[in-house]
Amino acid sequence: MNRFEILVGDITQSDAEAIVNAANTSLLGGSGVDGAIHRAAGPELLEACRALHGCETGKAKLTPGFRLAAHYVIHTPGPIWQGGGMGEPALLASCYKSALEVAAVHGIRTVDFPSISTGVYGYPLPQASTVALKAIMDFLRSHDLPQRVRMVCHTEQAAAIYRQTWNLWYAEDKDMRL
Ligand code: APR
Repeated sequence: MNRFEILVGDITQSDAEAIVNAANTSLLGGSGVDGAIHRAAGPELLEACRALHGCETGKAKLTPGFRLAAHYVIHTPGPIWQGGGMGEPALLASCYKSALEVAAVHGIRTVDFPSISTGVYGYPLPQASTVALKAIMDFLRSHDLPQRVRMVCHTEQAAAIYRQTWNLWYAEDKDMRL
């Protein structure tokens, strides 16, 4: 199994043990991938999220996946893009790191991510992909779990940007392969 892959798809259909939700700090749902995950998981997800009393930007919290194929949802609020000088890169990196730490602590072997903050929150894809891939690769190089991480892009255009960034920085990293 490759440790890291980039693909195009609908993350609500993922069969990974855990999918990551690009949430907001209330954890009470929204549009975008947040709305799609809540619709697919059913109303129990919202109830479980209410009990979590929100989540800070850059942190991550776990719930069951309920009606999703994925056993778990890891909710992480990404930063809203404000031009890049307000700590957005560090907060975005923290989303990926926190989500992976939650997965590792719970013995979760496969995790699928959406492209956090690159929709409603306006984070430009080239910058976001650089931050995301560095955070994921740094984590995978120093941890045995998760065994596999995938970036599930909703469009081919987004996947092309992630693949371009991968080829720029990690193409020689054979043990991670794409
Ligand atoms: N599967 C995979 N990726 C998806 C899906 C899906 N079903 N739906 C959307 N995406 C992609 C978008 O194309 C974008 O690249 O997820 C990425 C993140 O976009 P958003 O869902 O808009 O999330 P974000 O930019 O982090 O904004 C979060 O939006 O939905 C609200 O409640 C959420 O307030 C929060 C904000």
